[in-house]
Amino acid sequence: MTRTQRLRSDDAGIARAGALIASGGLVAFPTETVYGLGADATDDHAVARIYEAKGRPAFNPLIVHVPDIVAARTVALFNDTAERLASAFWPGPLTLVLPVRDGAVSALVRAGLPTVAIRVPAHPVAQGLLRAASRPVAAPSANPSGRVSPTAAEHVLAGLNGRIDAVLDAGPCTVGVESTIVGATEAPTLLRPGGLPAEAIEACLGTPLAGHSGGIVAPGQIHSHYAPRGRVRLNAKTAEGDEILLGFGHVDAPLNLSPSGDLVEAAATLFAALHRLDEMNAERIAVSPIPDLGLGRAINDRLRRAAADREG
Ligand code: TXA
Ligand code: MG
Repeated sequence: MTRTQRLRSDDAGIARAGALIASGGLVAFPTETVYGLGADATDDHAVARIYEAKGRPAFNPLIVHVPDIVAARTVALFNDTAERLASAFWPGPLTLVLPVRDGAVSALVRAGLPTVAIRVPAHPVAQGLLRAASRPVAAPSANPSGRVSPTAAEHVLAGLNGRIDAVLDAGPCTVGVESTIVGATEAPTLLRPGGLPAEAIEACLGTPLAGHSGGIVAPGQIHSHYAPRGRVRLNAKTAEGDEILLGFGHVDAPLNLSPSGDLVEAAATLFAALHRLDEMNAERIAVSPIPDLGLGRAINDRLRRAAADREG
C-alpha cells in the first residue's frame, strides 16, 4: 500500500507531481479527455508500475505525452502527414502513432513495437506537469483495468487510492472520452475513434482515413504486438537441446527476467529480453514458469501470444 497524496493543481502541486514522476513515481493527472496515470516513459520500472497499479492483464502499448511538437520530434519521426495533423490539432485530443526514435522511450511503453503513440494534451495542468517532469510521460486512463475511465479526481481515488503516489486534482475533464488515435506510419489510419472527430481529420488531410467511412484496413496491417523470431516454449524447468532459457527467479539461465523473482522487475525487462533473444538469433526459447498473479498475468499473456504467433 502507498499513501496516495491529493495535490492541488497550483504551482506547488504541479512542481511536486513533476518531481514524483521524475523520481519514478506514479501520478494521476488531468487532461482535457480523461485523467491519465502518468509515469516516466523512459523508465521501464516506472512503466511496469503503471500496469501493476491498473491490474492490467496484458501489456498494451501506452500513449506518451509531451508538452509540444518540439518535444514530440525528439521521441518520434514525423512525416508530412504527421506534421500537418500536429500543426492543425495539437495541443488537443489527437494521438499519432509514428516510428519511434531509438532509445527515446522504454520498450515496455511501446510493448516492444518500433512505433510509439504520442500526444500533446491541451489541459493547462497537464501542460504544467509535462514541463515540470521534463521528460516524456506515459499515461493510460487512470482507472483499474476493465473499469470506466475517470473524468474527476474522485473517480481516480475510488479506483486507485493506495496504489499510486498522487493525484493532481483540477476538477472535471471537459472532453470525457479518450483521444482519437491515428496511425501515420503508412496510409493514415483511424486506430481508435475519440475526442477529435475523424471527419475533422479527413477534412484536414483531404483524404479518407483507412478504418473510417469506407476506408479499408487490410487484415494483418496493424501489428499490435511484438513477438521474437524464435519458437517459444513456456513453463520450462530447464532448456532442452538448442533452446535458450529465459529465466525467472533462482535458475541458471543466460537471460533472467528477475533473478530475485520480482514481477515488477520482470515486466520492466521483458521486452528488452525478447529483443535480446532476437539479437542472439535464438531459434528456440524456453521460458521459466512465471506465477500467474499480479503483473505475472500480463507477462504470461504476452509470452503466450509470443508462443502462439509462431505456431500459426
Ligand atoms: O485521451 C487519452 O488518450 C488518454 C489520456 C490520459 O491522454 N490516454 C489513453 O492512453 O487513452 P492509453 O495508453 O490507454 O491508450 C492506449 C491506446 C491503446 O488502444 C493502444 O493500442 C494504442 O493506444 N497504442 C499505443 N501505442 C500504439 C502503437 N505503437 N501502435 C498502435 N496502437 C498503439
Ligand atoms: Mg483506458
